[in-house]
Amino acid sequence: MITVFGSINLDLVVVVERLPAPGETIGGSDHQTFAGGKGANQALAAKKAGAIVKMIGAVGQDGFSQLALANLVAAEVDLSGVRSLDGATGIAMIGVDAKGENQIIFARGANARADADWLKEGLGPDDTLMLQGEAPFQQIAKAMHIAKQAQTAIFWNPAPVPRGDLGDCLDLVSTLVVNESEAAEIARRYGLSTDLNEFLDHFETPSRAIVATLGAAGVIATKEGKRYRFASPAVKAVDTTGAGDAFCGALAAALDRNVTFERAVKEGVAAGAIACTLTGAQSSAPLKSDIEHLADQIV
Ligand code: RIB
Repeated sequence: MITVFGSINLDLVVVVERLPAPGETIGGSDHQTFAGGKGANQALAAKKAGAIVKMIGAVGQDGFSQLALANLVAAEVDLSGVRSLDGATGIAMIGVDAKGENQIIFARGANARADADWLKEGLGPDDTLMLQGEAPFQQIAKAMHIAKQAQTAIFWNPAPVPRGDLGDCLDLVSTLVVNESEAAEIARRYGLSTDLNEFLDHFETPSRAIVATLGAAGVIATKEGKRYRFASPAVKAVDTTGAGDAFCGALAAALDRNVTFERAVKEGVAAGAIACTLTGAQSSAPLKSDIEHLADQIV
């Protein structure tokens, strides 16, 4: 089983010709509203990829909360660990350009008060705890310590990379997933270059696998001293929002059902590619059968 401790947002998306520079105003036509939040997106993606998933997090008591949870409810993700708190649900304002690239500003809202104590007694040795970077960093670290006590595998996608000393968390993680900018930010803090091979060499340990996603170029990963590189299948990208979350959800779901690391990474790559072909972070997360079909074609 996978437990996700993370954010639940409502995404307000505007498609524009190009993303604005600082200080610039760019107009789009209509906006669209989608359920989002990296935690919720990854929970839904893992569920659609075949895992049993429990979500732990917080929404506010406003008109956005039900919309933000609607897809998780429909997919029958266990929401018994989601609390409804005073104040606003987290939101993200997202611009998507003609190439499908995005720019995201988010307001934490109730996510800022998600508490790792809500996880207690819910984790076991056969489980996986998935975390991102939108919950409060102190609570992310606390959640990892609770998981360690319960001998639960820890899957961390530090997006966005939290401020503060990452060392304690990195020591506890079994699978670390970063994109190029997250890897560059972590590398900078450790005085490393932006060379991803150096990043993998530095952070891989016998108990920690590292996966670096490269957008359309695919992925580079390492586990137990073996390096893997897979190109992403060619797709027409419409919206890359949530592609990283689809990748993480499918990868974690595959690892959770004990397929090989190599196959799990291929399933992540397949899910990320499919997710780029539709607008919205959750609506684009693919089903297990589609992930498996595309993953079979990745060599
Ligand atoms: O990864 C995409 C997500 O980032 C969006 O759904 C948005 O809510 C932000 O959290």
